[in-house]
Amino acid sequence: MPKKSVLDFMKMKKKGEKIAYLTAYDFPMASFCEKAGIDMILVGDSAGMVVHGLSGTVPMTMDQMIMHSQIVRRGASNTFIIGDMPFLSYQVSREDAIRNAGRFFKEAEVDAIKLEGGQRVVKQIEGIVEGGMSVMGHIGLTPQSSGQLGGFKAQGRTADTALELIKDALAIEMAGAFALLVEAVPPEVGLKISEMLKIPVLGIGAGMYTDGQILIIGDMLGYFEAFTPKFVKKYANLAEVIEKAFREYVDDVKTGRFPEKKHCYRMLEGELDKLEPVLKNMPLP
Ligand code: KIV
Repeated sequence: MPKKSVLDFMKMKKKGEKIAYLTAYDFPMASFCEKAGIDMILVGDSAGMVVHGLSGTVPMTMDQMIMHSQIVRRGASNTFIIGDMPFLSYQVSREDAIRNAGRFFKEAEVDAIKLEGGQRVVKQIEGIVEGGMSVMGHIGLTPQSSGQLGGFKAQGRTADTALELIKDALAIEMAGAFALLVEAVPPEVGLKISEMLKIPVLGIGAGMYTDGQILIIGDMLGYFEAFTPKFVKKYANLAEVIEKAFREYVDDVKTGRFPEKKHCYRMLEGELDKLEPVLKNMPLP
């Protein structure tokens, strides 16, 4: 199957075919996503929490995000990949935004970039799109500015704040984004935005009516243990599986149950008989 493009995602929205979207940060997970038929992969700055053990996404740097994007591209060469612009890589100026977006395309061969914010990042989105690059917007709970939002909290729960989100969504579409990610809003708000926009709207904690869904891989596989947001469905409990395997390994090594004969290389026939007399006569230091 050919790699999906922004046109395919528009067609999927028109047909009502849902888009399945996941984050990935490394080679093995990216290749599992591709084999499983994931439509698009986000190399999210959530890597800061899921992989780097940070308490938020703000400290992530361009170099770190480029490195994660390069290895995800290696693992999923035939999947649409989106690089997540880290904090301060686009907020300061339109020029910064274009140059840093360009790095993702030149150095990691991504298909698109994502950045957070509504009306306040319109200039940046326009600049990147004018530069010939595809942009996904991100509104609602925007983790890079979660301090301003009072923490990792649901957004758009009142008519006024929902209206502000709808204005943000329309501004992002007008600026030329090919898709929009909406995080942590009530399903009614996810529905209104999906109905009002022509571009695909992907949701994380935005209910069942958006044009597609994304989950963070560490949450859905159950290996990110710091906290689990309400909107997560766990499809596996890898933390339990991995910890059990590690405990068994420790026990096997300590008790001598590992390695067994089948895990060992064998010397060639007769070579040990040759080695032993030589060792016997070898002067020790
Ligand atoms: O960085 C990330 O993983 C995100 C999620 C909210 C999808 O932006």
